[in-house]
Formats: sequence, structure tokens, C-alpha cells
Amino acid sequence: MTSARVRGAILISGRGSNMAALLQHAKLDDSFPVQFALVVSDKIEAAGLGTATSAGVKTAALKSCREGRSVWEAELQSILEDEDIDLICLAGFMRLLSADFVAAWEGRILNIHPSLLPDYPGLDAQAQALDDGAAEAGCTVHIVTAEMDAGPVLGQSRVPVQPGDSVDELSARILAEEHRLYPQCVAQYARETLASKEQAHAG
Ligand code: GRF
Repeated sequence: MTSARVRGAILISGRGSNMAALLQHAKLDDSFPVQFALVVSDKIEAAGLGTATSAGVKTAALKSCREGRSVWEAELQSILEDEDIDLICLAGFMRLLSADFVAAWEGRILNIHPSLLPDYPGLDAQAQALDDGAAEAGCTVHIVTAEMDAGPVLGQSRVPVQPGDSVDELSARILAEEHRLYPQCVAQYARETLASKEQAHAG
């Protein structure tokens, strides 16, 4: 069994509970195949930055600049390179990455979304599910492509919608599944990445 780990960064915009779940798994499970070396937020006030610092992970707050997305992404790219990052996990990151950035990181950016994609992409997925009268909801981990919430699915978890559910109640039920599903999918993805690299070296 290999002890190699993928170096990961987590991008957040807010409270960072999925980020915390990823950091927790990486800390508690010796065989977790990702070392999270960096957390980046596009919001200086993101609560998740404090959580990451308390967990001993390096953080950076990169707030949006007037020069626009390409300057912001160039700054991000430079921090990622400084930390030798190989995998990006979006966790409640509310900014759309450009097609150029996604192409440069093709297949190496993952995201968690609070719906059973392809249902309800975009904002307020839980409210969309309730408005639609869906009987089931859930979350999806997928590879990020240039089209929002549309990349290849790595895993999904389902929860029932209960009669009279509020958005908050449904969101909390989904979030508990997110915290379980995201670390599981990230670990699986990283193990496959490491295995195919090993195979390429051997071949
Ligand atoms: C989660 O529901 C996630 O699926 C969505 O944004 C929310 C972020 O929550 N993309 P947190 O910041 O991880 O607590």
C-alpha cells in the first residue's frame, strides 16, 4: 500500500462545514489519500477561515478585485503553485471559475452540490426541490467542468423530503449527507489518481 498523498486545496466562501468535514477525515484517517495544504476564500469574513486556521491549515483570503476575474484567478493560480497543489475541492465556493481556469485544471477540481444533479443546478437547490414538490432530494459530488454543476458525477446521496419541510430542515438533512459523501468521494478519486500515476510510472 502506498503512503503517497495528493496535495489538496479547498476553496470556500462561507461557513466551511464541508471543508471542516474534509479536514477532519484527513486528520483522523491515516490512510486518507489527500493532504489538505491550503484553504482559500474569496471572502475575508468567511467563518471557515478561522476553522481552517484552528485546524493548522494555511489559509489565504483573496477578495475580488476591480481588475476582474482573470487577475483574481492568476493570484489564485500562483498561490496554488506555491503550495504544489494537485487537487482543488470546492466547498461552498460561490464564485464561478472561468473556462480557462477549469481547462488548466481539467479533471482536478471537485465540487459538492446540494441536489441530485442534473436536477436543480445553480443557487438555492434545496428551495428549488421543495418548490418542485420533489419526493427526494440529496447531494452530488462531481468533477467541475466549464458548465456549472454539469461535470461527471462521482457520487450521490439521497434523502427523503418530509411533508412540511422548510428549506432549513431539508438543507440540514442534506448537509449531514454532504459531510459523509464528500470525504468519501474525494478519497476514492485521489486513490484512483495515485493508482493511475503509479501505473504510468511502472509502465
Ligand atoms: C453546501 O450545501 C454545499 O453543497 C453548497 O454550499 C453549501 C456550503 O456549505 N455548495 P458549507 O460552507 O460547506 O457549510
